[in-house]
Amino acid sequence: MNNTIAIVLAAGEGKRMKSNTPKILHKAAGKALSEWVVDAAAEATGQPPVLVIGKNADMTRDYFGERVLYAVQSEPLGSGHAVMAASEHLTGDGYVIVVAGDMPLIQAQTLIRLSKTAADNRLGACLLTAAVDDATGYGRVIRGEDGGVQRIVEHRDATEEQKAVREINLSIYCFDRALLREALASLKPNNVQGEYYLTDCIEYISAKGKRIEAVSCGSADEWMGVNDRVQLADAAKKLRRRINNNLMLSGVTMMDPDSTYIEATVTVGQDVTIYPGVTLEGQTVIEQGAVLYPGSRIADSTIGAGSTVQNSVILSSTVGEHTTIGPYAYLRPGSQVGNGCRVGDFVEVKNAQIKDGAKVSHLTYIGDGEIGEKTNIGCGVVFVNYDGKKKSKTIVGKNAFVGCNVNLVAPVSVGDGAYIAAGSTVTKNVEEDALCIARSRQTVIEGWAKRRRDE
Ligand code: UD1
Ligand code: MG
Repeated sequence: MNNTIAIVLAAGEGKRMKSNTPKILHKAAGKALSEWVVDAAAEATGQPPVLVIGKNADMTRDYFGERVLYAVQSEPLGSGHAVMAASEHLTGDGYVIVVAGDMPLIQAQTLIRLSKTAADNRLGACLLTAAVDDATGYGRVIRGEDGGVQRIVEHRDATEEQKAVREINLSIYCFDRALLREALASLKPNNVQGEYYLTDCIEYISAKGKRIEAVSCGSADEWMGVNDRVQLADAAKKLRRRINNNLMLSGVTMMDPDSTYIEATVTVGQDVTIYPGVTLEGQTVIEQGAVLYPGSRIADSTIGAGSTVQNSVILSSTVGEHTTIGPYAYLRPGSQVGNGCRVGDFVEVKNAQIKDGAKVSHLTYIGDGEIGEKTNIGCGVVFVNYDGKKKSKTIVGKNAFVGCNVNLVAPVSVGDGAYIAAGSTVTKNVEEDALCIARSRQTVIEGWAKRRRDE
């Protein structure tokens, strides 16, 4: 397959999206629409595809960087004109797959089937088609007496007899490169729209006596195009279902796949259990046997084997093995929680390390700090990390005990094994194994309250 390249057409305007973002960069299940196509094309050919973009396509270039080659179509003069724009990549022998960039469900296997049919049978071209009940708007596939494809007639240019044809062109082709070069050179905009139609290349190649065949695309989902945001949501739903099905077949339990949102970039290990209402985004990894109870958003984070997460938000952070997170915990970027830890309800952690076996069970803010192994942080502790000008760090050693409602005013450190009495506001370092009480002594005046009532 090394001698097959792919061209992805993405210079169309996509006006119906009503957006400042180009249509092909709108995301479905974690990848841009055209990224799905680019990835399928790269997988099918083993090399970076050529992406045909319009002028002013800086956002597209920023998005894809060096993953694709670029060709610029300076004016949208039709699908044939778009392929002409890529002609510098069309040199040499072999085949070229041409596919529209707004069909995110197209699979590499289908592109391989298409190009293999072309190469194995030495065809002039091969196209993907489908038989549909309502062919309105599509190009009709016209076959000759020998059953080969002779030409494609666009709906707008078709006669009544041609309109009755139910086999449609899906805009996914594999051409012999040398023949495509010749055919493109012969294109004329002689049609209702005054455009250079790529479809006219089919007639040119067949007129040269070269065989053209069609491969039927099994599933209608695969060739669904996205033109507006309703179709975007439909396509995203199908892509998510595909992702979820693959994960379930690889050993992940999902209580309700329809309400589980997992992006294409996420990795989920075997025997992970996922409850409804869980969202996994970006470069997230969920390791073996973890349980994600309802209602969490986890982005760009790793959850270790056997850990549980419930109703929590975890962003750009790592969680070790057999650790419990939530319900209602918030791990902000840069948090690292170790193995066998507990981060409980209404605990916010930011840019902090919580080492193995440490527990932060309730109602606490851990910002810019370190908590040593097996240390217990009581209820309502605040790492006071901001003095209004700068952020500072709090370091608590291992096997320490920080009582309830303690403020640790950074920069400050608490040594290994130290004990901080509840309600303390700690502003100076505490040595290891020390007891720190930093609050005013309790005063009790006997009978005071009764005297006041009696007055
Ligand atoms: C095209 C086919 C039609 C097929 C249908 C399937 C042609 C002439 N017709 O029609 O037979 O049934 O797709 O959806 O190709 N593009 C550019 N630059 C342009 C024009 C188009 O890059 O100047 C790209 C578009 O971004 C799109 C693809 O080419 O990815 C197809 O163009 P589109 O305008 O959607 O063609 P259709 O009218 O849908
Ligand atoms: Mg179209």
